[in-house]
Amino acid sequence: MERVASKMDFSQPRVIAEYGPGEGVHSREIARRMCPDSHLLLFELDRAFARDLERQFADDRRVRVIHGDAASLPHELQRHRIDRCDYILSGIPFSILKIEKKRALLQKTYDALAPGGNFIIYQVTNELKQHATHFEHAESEYFLQNIPPMFITVFQKTHPLDHHKREPLQGATFTLSGHRSA
Ligand SMILES: C[S@@+](CC[C@H](N)C(=O)[O-])C[C@H]1O[C@@H](n2cnc3c(N)ncnc32)[C@H](O)[C@@H]1O
Repeated sequence: MERVASKMDFSQPRVIAEYGPGEGVHSREIARRMCPDSHLLLFELDRAFARDLERQFADDRRVRVIHGDAASLPHELQRHRIDRCDYILSGIPFSILKIEKKRALLQKTYDALAPGGNFIIYQVTNELKQHATHFEHAESEYFLQNIPPMFITVFQKTHPLDHHKREPLQGATFTLSGHRSA
């Protein structure tokens, strides 16, 4: 979980959405690191997990638990009068989503990110990279000693001022890492 949270810059207030937090292992680490004026929106389909997350964050006004589909992100941002996200983290099993649903969620994710924002996923396969063509750049790390081994990939939505840095996704960076904890 330190590996995932370390992909984010917490030096200023952030808007962060998390898809599929489950039991909340990453959510707790993010909440621990983020500044007082930050927002963390947790989208969890499973009722029992959502209830437990509500209990865990009952005293934290920065955190909102949405018992629902990650695809409701644009609606929830509007409802909470939040303009854009700085980071969107996903632990949902993208690889088993139907292609139309996968592409639609990727488009919503890209649209919801502020320029310069990042979409961060941790998955046992790196298949999403071939579909995430909306993003200008991607960097993957493979954590071989994690159980199970997994990829952490950061998809970047380029800031307009950084357009000279734009690289096609085929040129994405890949690193193999032996760290035990993702
Ligand atoms: C593999 S678990 C990851 C749990 C947690 N992030 C972790 O690393 O321990 C995937 C979670 O995503 C949730 N999920 C799956 N599809 C979802 C969706 N479309 N929207 C929101 N949550 C979803 C599941 O209910 C489950 O809790």
